[in-house]
Amino acid sequence: MTASGLRGGTGMAAKLILGTEVARRIRDEVATRVGAMKEKGRIPGLATVLVGTDPASKAYVGMKNRAATEAGIRSRQIDLPASIPHAELLGLVSGLNADPEVHGILVQLPLPSQVRTQEILEGIHPSKDVDCFHPLNVGRLNTGDAHVLAPCTPLGILELLLRSGHDPRGRHVVVVGRSNLVGKPMAALLLRRGRGGDATVTVAHSQTPDLAAVTRLGEILIVAVGRAGVVTRDMVRPGAVVIDVGVNRVDDPTAERGYRLTGDVDFEGVREVASAITPVPGGVGPMTIAMLLSNTVEAASRSWEEER
Ligand code: GUN
Repeated sequence: MTASGLRGGTGMAAKLILGTEVARRIRDEVATRVGAMKEKGRIPGLATVLVGTDPASKAYVGMKNRAATEAGIRSRQIDLPASIPHAELLGLVSGLNADPEVHGILVQLPLPSQVRTQEILEGIHPSKDVDCFHPLNVGRLNTGDAHVLAPCTPLGILELLLRSGHDPRGRHVVVVGRSNLVGKPMAALLLRRGRGGDATVTVAHSQTPDLAAVTRLGEILIVAVGRAGVVTRDMVRPGAVVIDVGVNRVDDPTAERGYRLTGDVDFEGVREVASAITPVPGGVGPMTIAMLLSNTVEAASRSWEEER
């Protein structure tokens, strides 16, 4: 053991943190909650909006819908052409805001260039914003509001850490990447007081000089850069818990589709020094979907509370 209480570089391979299994448990919990709602004659509803035909986006939205349906959520996927005018998309979102059967709205990103993405995200009613992309909710998140529906990927990472026995409280967590989707909200969640929070947080990014010196400080290292293999063994503190958020396609002529999925972390090297690591696929990805379902059911529950 090192002075910090972390396991040293023992040469043993890291434990795998299996998002698939944790996500399964959360999806079962969500399904149980939906079952109880249905007994009272109430069905939570999710609307997903897919613009265009990007294969990755299409696959993600399809998975989200199937998972929602499996949990008993009434799920509606709206497929729109890539050429949809901005005003039309905004109008569609307004319609979903007004639809009492829809409790959660997810507009899959990225959107085509004629669409002003920020205006669309601001057009989603904050109470139905299961992605936490609306500035009001982003603000709430950053003021430490424990009640806000937090963004699915960072929230999924927190659940994964907590449920695999790696509470971030009091730990130095290094987040690599400063995106609005993952890095920034991840830091905000880790800084909150209470469950899943109370961490010391450093956010590093592409302009950080000597990135390795910073990543080596992390007792928990969360990597969300979007580039294959940017974090190598020498950049990881021995005994660290490593969360790999990246999903990158790399050419692989031996694979059926001609590519394989790989994370931002050099898995084979890093697993020799880390104490625990998430695989790609099967790590963070399934958690994002599980938290979307959880947020949708929570949004539905709150909407009915308000009716009473
Ligand atoms: N594109 C990539 N990840 C996400 C996500 O979590 N939500 C939405 N809406 N779009 C995405």
